[in-house]
Amino acid sequence: VNFLSDNVRGASPEILEAVARAARGSALPYGEDELTRAVERRVSDIFERDCAVFPVVTGSAANALALSVLAPPYGVVYCHEQAHIQTDECGGPEFYSGGAKLGLLPGAHGKIDRDRLRAALAGAGIGVVHFAQPAAVSLTQATEAGTVYAQDEVAGIAETAREFRLAVHMDGARFANAVADRGLTPAETTWKSGIDVLSFGGTKNGCLAAEAVVFFDPARAGDFAFRRKRAGHLLSKLRFVSAQLMAYLADDLWLKNARRANRMAARLAEGLDRTGAATFRHPVEANEIFVELPEPALAGLEAEGFQFHRWEPGQSTLIRLVTAFDTEEADVDRLIAAARRLAGTRDP
Ligand SMILES: Cc1ncc(COP(=O)(O)O)c(C=O)c1O
Repeated sequence: VNFLSDNVRGASPEILEAVARAARGSALPYGEDELTRAVERRVSDIFERDCAVFPVVTGSAANALALSVLAPPYGVVYCHEQAHIQTDECGGPEFYSGGAKLGLLPGAHGKIDRDRLRAALAGAGIGVVHFAQPAAVSLTQATEAGTVYAQDEVAGIAETAREFRLAVHMDGARFANAVADRGLTPAETTWKSGIDVLSFGGTKNGCLAAEAVVFFDPARAGDFAFRRKRAGHLLSKLRFVSAQLMAYLADDLWLKNARRANRMAARLAEGLDRTGAATFRHPVEANEIFVELPEPALAGLEAEGFQFHRWEPGQSTLIRLVTAFDTEEADVDRLIAAARRLAGTRDP
């Protein structure tokens, strides 16, 4: 049973069917097609304002290209020290921006600490030629720690950014998981809280490969279209990416999928908690669980075929478990039962 990542899962049937439908007949290439236009309209409906929307096929490209518009080569993009753009994108943001630096900020549970951001900006040498110049803040929603920023936390960070004339980017690779079940609209979670650009994820939540870069003020998109083309991310048959996004956004499939993933994570976390042997590193608020279990239990689970990431190998027994849009309740319950049985085990 595989809890390694949401990336290990397949794709929603509705999305596969939409791709098959898009394969019939012909359509204009390079995003001039009707489906791609429809995605822009649908995203604008969901976010309650006219947006500029650019489909791409990886979250890394979405982030790096979005940030390249916000930050000049001599700029600084502030982010959490565990942000995906810092730890997992191989210098992509620096590459696409032509050299902008990432300014790393600490903060509990994967969230940027607003006071640390303010302190960093106050000491950043704004306007001084010797210093790289603060240009943007990037925050991840849901975070890399599986937590979700509250609306006032997003708004607070954006307010501080705005005070120093910085743009604000949201890495929403798991945006659906952050929005589902929270009683907030996508608009409230983003531009109404001060977000300028969103990397809106689809791949982890049921698409084959589809993300959208969403500029809430189309004027802010600037030369994004040229940057995307130059980066090799303007697909000739872009309609296949747009077909995925249309199906993802139709009938709230994106929210339905995320609700299931979140529900399975909550069930798994509760079950592990009941074993009495689990120590949670972060609150479980989306579809990722960071938990410590005794080594014999971990070894036993692995021997029984359960797959998960050992998060700090050799240093601790922290593991990451990720649920997804198609995680089966029975698999969650099997893991809980095995953990309960194995948690009593002691080293010989
Ligand atoms: C927080 C976050 N941002 C962005 C990405 C984008 O990833 P990819 O380039 O693999 O699509 C990921 C994927 O793991 C992620 O977890």
